[in-house]
Amino acid sequence: MKVGIDLIHFATADYYLGLDTFAAEKHIDVEKFTIGIGQERMSIAPPDEDVVSLAAKAAAPLLEQINANEISAVLFATETGVDQSKSAGVFLHGLLGLSNRCRVIEFKHACYAGAAALQMATTMVRANPKEKILVIAADIAKYDIDTSGEATQGCGAVAMLITESPRIIEIEPGSGFYTDDVMDFWRPNHRTTALVDGKYSTKVYLNSLKHAWEHFTEQTGRTFNDIDYFCYHIPFTKMAEKAHKTLVKKVGAKLTQAQFDAQTLPSQLYNRIVGNSYSASLFVGFISLLDNSLQNLEGKRISFFSYGSGCVAEFFTGIMQPGYQKVLMTADHRKQIDQRQPLSYQAYLDFYHKTDCTLENVVFPLNNKGPYRLAGIEDHKRYYEKTN
Ligand code: CAA
Repeated sequence: MKVGIDLIHFATADYYLGLDTFAAEKHIDVEKFTIGIGQERMSIAPPDEDVVSLAAKAAAPLLEQINANEISAVLFATETGVDQSKSAGVFLHGLLGLSNRCRVIEFKHACYAGAAALQMATTMVRANPKEKILVIAADIAKYDIDTSGEATQGCGAVAMLITESPRIIEIEPGSGFYTDDVMDFWRPNHRTTALVDGKYSTKVYLNSLKHAWEHFTEQTGRTFNDIDYFCYHIPFTKMAEKAHKTLVKKVGAKLTQAQFDAQTLPSQLYNRIVGNSYSASLFVGFISLLDNSLQNLEGKRISFFSYGSGCVAEFFTGIMQPGYQKVLMTADHRKQIDQRQPLSYQAYLDFYHKTDCTLENVVFPLNNKGPYRLAGIEDHKRYYEKTN
């Protein structure tokens, strides 16, 4: 039986901060960002956008193509959940009007949770092929102002439908994983912004890749040459480039620059202009590959490396399915990205860093262009609405 991603769609916020604007404000050479870390823009969520509204925007087009009552579970991965007790997925479940005969749970481990939810979903479908599982990976990446991480913010949500006989990619059984208790990036419960030991985090990322790769090859017997395209977790695109260089060196592969670029570049194009979206970033990269590859990917093996600081990492692969092009939502992804409005540095501060979402009562001004928004908080309860 083949199990994997049957449909996939992503959403991001309606605004962005250009790293040119950012660099001018901070009096830093813009090439530190465009070349040094490989980023151009960061999607910025207004106060009435959170991971639930982003997730609903990502999931709605999927549900229009299936019988939504058949969704048997929602696995919602996020590092930026909205409640310490209630799963973000249950807010989403209500907003999308899913069946009560559905299980919903939130997954957390920094940027790794999306891969964990995907793997859990494939296991559930293998156990019961009738399951149709909605996997969500959604995050709003936020660091303190004037920290090294500030240039690597962003936001996005990816919705994936996991079924048997998937139309896009079969996720192959077997993977390699690695866990180590380290403090490279973390966010204590009282904080809305993450703390990070930036340089150290890049070293732990690359070390985790080497360990997860070793485990992957032991578990599956697959080698570097068995893989056609490589998708990495992308906090910033230069990190994916460093990751691929590390792997190429580890296995002793001899690649031309053109071969190296072909294996990794198409999966970085969206991330370069969306920014980090933590648990969603790996899958935004996969969508970027699907939408931007000039090659027919049918039958190709794609690898996925997920890295969540703290840290947990996993390396796994999938096989692209015949006719996958027919179900891609490329035009919608491009439209969303292109229609975003640029923000001044001050407007970004107002949207991202000045709103106190811990208030017990607040009505948010309408900035989110929909189709779903966080309307307000009343007596500590969040209220969402469909806007169009
Ligand atoms: N022109 C071209 N390149 C330039 C330049 C210029 N004018 N100025 C600097 N650069 C280069 C530097 O040489 C450097 O390149 P190398 O990495 O190849 O050495 C690069 O630009 C970055 O410069 P710095 O090292 O001086 O930058 P920094 O210390 O201010 O920030 C960072 C880098 C620490 C990664 C920072 O972006 C950060 O803290 N990011 C958040 C943490 C993060 O994303 N970590 C990634 C691994 S953890 C993870 O993946 C989980 C997650 O999502 C958070």
